[in-house]
Amino acid sequence: MANFRITILPGDGIGPEIVAEGVKVLKAIEELYHHHFEIKEALIGGISLDQTGIPLPDETVASCQASDAVLLGAVGGPKWDQNPGHLRPEAGLLGIRKKLGLYANLRPATAFESLVDASTLKPEVISGVDLLVVRELTGGIYFGHKERREVNGVAEAVDTLHYNEKEIERIAHTAFRLARLRRNKVTSVDKANVMESSRLWREVVIRVAKEYPDVELEHVLVDACAMQLIRTPKHFDVIVTENLFGDILSDEAAMLTGSIGMLASASLGEGTFGLYEPVHGSAPDIAGQGIANPIATILSVAMMLKYSLGLKVEADLIELAVKSVLEKGYRTGDIASTGDEVKGTVEMGQLIIEEMKALKK
Ligand code: IPM
Ligand code: MG
Repeated sequence: MANFRITILPGDGIGPEIVAEGVKVLKAIEELYHHHFEIKEALIGGISLDQTGIPLPDETVASCQASDAVLLGAVGGPKWDQNPGHLRPEAGLLGIRKKLGLYANLRPATAFESLVDASTLKPEVISGVDLLVVRELTGGIYFGHKERREVNGVAEAVDTLHYNEKEIERIAHTAFRLARLRRNKVTSVDKANVMESSRLWREVVIRVAKEYPDVELEHVLVDACAMQLIRTPKHFDVIVTENLFGDILSDEAAMLTGSIGMLASASLGEGTFGLYEPVHGSAPDIAGQGIANPIATILSVAMMLKYSLGLKVEADLIELAVKSVLEKGYRTGDIASTGDEVKGTVEMGQLIIEEMKALKK
């Protein structure tokens, strides 16, 4: 039995609905294993803008810093789309990642056998896919110099892509260490044929690789990687890449699992503290309808138990329950095929919890 402090940041759109299911899963773990989770809710994103005028209040950062882990839903929506950059909901998400030093974003894409038909790709391409995107999360073009200006009456905008070798080194170490726990292969993705930052990236990754002679390293240009992810996704084990490339490639990788509604993520820094969130966004088009897929959030809870709380057995139970519920044919709308009976967010959460209880016996 152990005590943990968790901050939840439901955010916008479907965020509150899916985080509610994640919290129910935490409560089920409490009951089944007699742990105690002290759960505090805080504001981020659009809802925070509405209530406080800023996307990331200091109290939210403080609550996260006083916690063992954070569960986040999603931020953003059309209501705030016209806001200036620093007053957009996304600024809250980028701010919390940066302030908490969460430079390593882990996004595993694993094909569930029972869902291979839900993918738009052929079953033989999808079946057996098991890859991990390690996205650098606190550097690159997301955090470079930004500017709007006018030159001779013509509007211009600037975003700079900046990396130093320390930032590249630490994310490379993360990738190699994780590859050792998997299939010992790292694909470093860059655009070294064009970009100077990518040439530095490649040099540093090659240098770090010397400390991991047992791990195979290859370099793939980002455009070729985008293609190969669709053609032969089984080629990949760990993909390590800079912030924006990782953002794009992880959405692509998500579709290998059938739906972006399935993809969980962990954002880690030094130590065990982490922020966990589904990769999909706030999906304002389906918010409030009770139809969002809670699985990505529930799998994010499993990652939290594994990476931040040291509760591997408990995490395995959640993953097993998700797999089993899918094998029994239960589907939310995003992963349903014609003829499937479609479950809502709460029903799907409940099915997974019942399955956890049954499997634990
Ligand atoms: C993600 C999202 C965010 C990002 C947005 C919402 C700022 O797309 O987590 O992948 O670009 O990092
Ligand atoms: Mg994204």
